[in-house]
Amino acid sequence: MTARTSLTIVLAAGEGTRMRSSMPKVLHPVAGQTLLAHVLGASPQGTGAALAVVIGPDHEAVAKEAKRIRPDATTFIQHERLGTAHAVLAARDAITRGVDDLLVVFGDTPLISAATFARLRAPLKNGAALAVLGFRAADATGYGRLLVEDDRLVAIREQADASPAERAIKLSNAGVMAFDGRKALEIIEKVGNANSKSEYYLSDAVAIVRDLGLEAVVIETSEDEVRGINTKAQLAEAEQVMQTRLRQAALDAGVTMIAPETVYLAADTTFGNDVTIEPFVVIGPGVSIADGAVIHSFCHIVQASIGKNASVGPYARMRPGTSLGEGAKIGNFVETKAATLEAGVKVNHLSYIGDAHVGTGANIGAGTIICNYDGFGKHRTTIGKGAFVGSNSSLVAPVKIGNGAYVGSGSVITRDVPDDALAVERGEQTNREGGAARYRQMKTKPNPPKV
Ligand code: UD1
Ligand code: CA
Repeated sequence: MTARTSLTIVLAAGEGTRMRSSMPKVLHPVAGQTLLAHVLGASPQGTGAALAVVIGPDHEAVAKEAKRIRPDATTFIQHERLGTAHAVLAARDAITRGVDDLLVVFGDTPLISAATFARLRAPLKNGAALAVLGFRAADATGYGRLLVEDDRLVAIREQADASPAERAIKLSNAGVMAFDGRKALEIIEKVGNANSKSEYYLSDAVAIVRDLGLEAVVIETSEDEVRGINTKAQLAEAEQVMQTRLRQAALDAGVTMIAPETVYLAADTTFGNDVTIEPFVVIGPGVSIADGAVIHSFCHIVQASIGKNASVGPYARMRPGTSLGEGAKIGNFVETKAATLEAGVKVNHLSYIGDAHVGTGANIGAGTIICNYDGFGKHRTTIGKGAFVGSNSSLVAPVKIGNGAYVGSGSVITRDVPDDALAVERGEQTNREGGAARYRQMKTKPNPPKV
């Protein structure tokens, strides 16, 4: 049997006024990804799975985000927000192309899983015209209520139009529906707006399906999966649910966390084997942590790759574009940005390493600052393999420190330092005779002792 084709329509044209934000609602983040990214990630994908996103008239940023995640997505503009059924019809051109399963999902329900989409589609195979995702709400206020008679779904009643008896019903509409793709248009076009809000409610599709003598069914799921986000408080609740899930998945994958409830992960964080994350760590999007790496307490890490057996923190900040090689170490109060630190590099204390490449085994002393910005533009710094930068040095970019070079502590380096050279600028004279001399001597020995 060939797989059924699908079209998923994501409704994201709402203003999200209750968020009290100038940003469109679906662009707010949960676990480092936009609400829209979560929904698109769970939606059917691959061959035969088309995707349409319905956006508001001035929401170019939403269209861009949709394309970023699913380059195959088509976007449709709903010029007037006349209700959820009206929004679906904005994507009429996609619907008329004809698919087996038409899925409608709201852009503001980020916790939905791919498995639930699959479950919802199953009844269509058996002849149902419509499957509605339902859940038992702890507090159903605001949700459409599912009216069931003799085990059959007969209608959905929106809060504003519900009688007191109907309002007492807990079984609610999650907002995700699966239609028989060949009948969907006929059904949705019949939706009217004779209700207290004069809106075209997609939820009316259930009663229409019944009137046509077709079958509508409910598939139930947990409330946590379908929390709709309308306010910042609900955004925070969704974050909590998502973090609990991500922590559990990380623990299941073998990550050691002694206080997982204090560790914040992103939906796309990846872990190798035997990774340890100490308490109070915040990980943003785009982070990968390889085998055996340890993240000590109080670190903030975004868009960074952490190599095998590397060690980060405590109190380190890794900003976008940081790559930490195998066994490399970033210690306390070190900030990195757009920097590659090769294997075995040590930056143990109080440093800023930005727009830089640091070669294998280089040692960067306490308080070293890369001055990457001259007030106009950013410049790059290259530090060679095995180089040693003494404490409290400033490297004024663009600048290159050669392989095996030695920079005396307190230096302000403004010119390139050749390989194996000694550079002491405004540094202590003692460096020349003391540390520097010993360091150079050490490097000529086959197995230099650890100092
Ligand atoms: C909707 C459902 C309700 C369900 C609840 C679940 C309707 C009429 N009501 O109510 O039964 O229990 O979701 O969370 O379907 N949108 C548009 N264009 C519009 C109107 C809405 O694109 O003209 C989009 C919004 O951006 C949002 C989604 O549709 O992503 C739902 O709209 P919203 O206003 O949040 O509906 P609810 O009142 O939450
Ligand atoms: Ca909503």
